[in-house]
Amino acid sequence: MKHTILVIHGPNLNMLGDREPKTYGASPLDEINAALAAKGAELGVDVQAFQSNHEGAIVEKIQQARQGFSGLIINPAAYTHTSVAIRDAILLLDIPVIEIHLSNIYKRESFRHESLIRDVVAGQIAGFGSYGYIMALDAMAHLITQAK
Ligand code: DQA
Repeated sequence: MKHTILVIHGPNLNMLGDREPKTYGASPLDEINAALAAKGAELGVDVQAFQSNHEGAIVEKIQQARQGFSGLIINPAAYTHTSVAIRDAILLLDIPVIEIHLSNIYKRESFRHESLIRDVVAGQIAGFGSYGYIMALDAMAHLITQAK
């Protein structure tokens, strides 16, 4: 059975490219998703990407990941620092979860240093820009192959 990895992008990440490019890079989200699909093909996994600006929609998508997905890669964006609901939804999952941020949140304002999901994920990648998503997919493929 081919593994499918869910990638969730949180609020304002649909604006990548236009949004603070010095902090978040020049790649639009479509380009990141296309690079993930290409990396997935190389690794032999399918990738399904989802973006929402709404906390509840993200919670529902995480709930849906209980079926049919082998792993979750998530950039909760601003909700990283605020959302108990997203943390609780992640706790429902029994698949590996990787947290990713384009920027190094620990080099930024102190309110970004807190991640409410950091202790309920397999690991965190931050500060490598859009390449971080490729790193996350590589790490996820490693995790799910090891789990077999
Ligand atoms: C972010 C960091 C968050 O603090 C911010 O609110 C985002 C993006 C990142 O990818 O670096 O929207 O998650």
